[in-house]
Amino acid sequence: MKLHSDAWRNISFMMIGATAVFGGFAALTPSDRDDGDHGIAGHLASAFVSQAHAGETGELGLGREALPEEIAAWDIDIRPDGAGLPEGAGTVADGEAVFAEKCASCHGDFGEAVGRWPVLAGGFETLNSEDPVKTVGSYWPYLSTVWDYVHRAMPFGDAQSLTDDEVYAITAYLLYVNDLVDDEEFELSNANFLETPLPNEANFFLDDRLETEKAFWNRADICMQNCKESVEITSKARVLQVTPGDGAGGGGGEEAATGAEAEVQEASAQVETAVVELDPEQVKAGKKVFRKCKACHQVGDGAKHRTGPMLNGVFGRSAGTADGFKKYSDAMTTAGADGLVWDDATMSEFLAKPKKYVDGTSMAFAGLKKEADIAAVIAYLRSESGE
Ligand code: HEC
Ligand code: HEC
Repeated sequence: MKLHSDAWRNISFMMIGATAVFGGFAALTPSDRDDGDHGIAGHLASAFVSQAHAGETGELGLGREALPEEIAAWDIDIRPDGAGLPEGAGTVADGEAVFAEKCASCHGDFGEAVGRWPVLAGGFETLNSEDPVKTVGSYWPYLSTVWDYVHRAMPFGDAQSLTDDEVYAITAYLLYVNDLVDDEEFELSNANFLETPLPNEANFFLDDRLETEKAFWNRADICMQNCKESVEITSKARVLQVTPGDGAGGGGGEEAATGAEAEVQEASAQVETAVVELDPEQVKAGKKVFRKCKACHQVGDGAKHRTGPMLNGVFGRSAGTADGFKKYSDAMTTAGADGLVWDDATMSEFLAKPKKYVDGTSMAFAGLKKEADIAAVIAYLRSESGE
């Protein structure tokens, strides 16, 4: 059977460079490429068709020719160049509404994920870390895959129930929560689909090992002599706690939290909250910056804990003490117990380099580079966090 190389590329992701840590990640190469334009479904269909012809000539007497409707039902793959996209359109705002209704129960309001369902937003600049967060925004190479996948497979349990316009709207919303568009009125359609490429595209390419490793495979002398006499383990995996919630480093740490709690809360009660005049322009700019945080944090009326704690009342409070947030790292609760209280200065330093400021924090966020962004997001948090 033939698989179309582009369609294949759309499905099997292969990545290098920054992500050498993923070791062992490999993609298959279609052994037989052609330049037809039917995608996988077309080829599956033609496999059926040729068998049907065989039947007609009496060889096996099985099958019949695929109906055009049957081919159409199979042929729904969308390719990176936009081939296969139906006509349609939807805005970020429309997408937000559909997403809230049909997706947020598993993926969170902002794609930050509920529990252990997949996270769909954020994770930028984490791919070369020990704990890469691979999302539509940080990792996926093509927007066409988002459209194809959502259309084909989501909502989980009710696949292919969305209209084409809803899929455009959701895809636009996923761009928005990943900061790849910043206007809620932005409308994604088949006409402008290719105008917003995903940032990680360049790190994907077709598996070329058949060519690039040919010389190696053909070597006659592949190390079958002078082999080592014994094999020793010389190093071990660095992160052993792979199950969330099992304490050390894995995002658990609830036990550690309780001990210091009373003390910490007493300490935070003594800190006075300064009254700060807020600059409305800065608050507005901060709202935009906060999109980078939204995948994990909520603030303002009705804010809830998500991947990260909700940030109401965060100023003047000891680190790691938001009521009811159970996922603090040991590092954060310890920092709070040791006297870290959130104010403009401490939060600025934390937001510039979270992992450096609170060594071992589970906040998977690389940090804000611009001081102006930090000041703005702090102003916004102050305006929303109930002071
Ligand atoms: C009942 C829970 C549930 C609902 C509701 C749901 N999903 Fe999913 N979603 C999943 C699961 C489970 C997976 C992973 C499936 C797999 O890997 O086979 C997933 C995977 C995804 C992925 C791929 C994530 C990745 O990086 O691999 C996207 C994109 C996605 N869903 C979008 C949506 C959209 C859009 C909706 C609403 C229309 C939706 N989902 C509704 C459970 C859900
Ligand atoms: C990928 C998810 C994620 C993103 C994005 C993120 N955070 Fe966090 N944040 C967390 C988690 C998880 C914690 C708890 C960290 C810990 O316990 O070590 C946290 C902790 C915090 C705290 C300490 C709160 C407390 O109760 O002590 C502040 C303040 C904070 N984040 C602000 C921000 C801001 C502002 C942004 C955006 C510029 C942001 N975060 C982006 C996940 C995230």
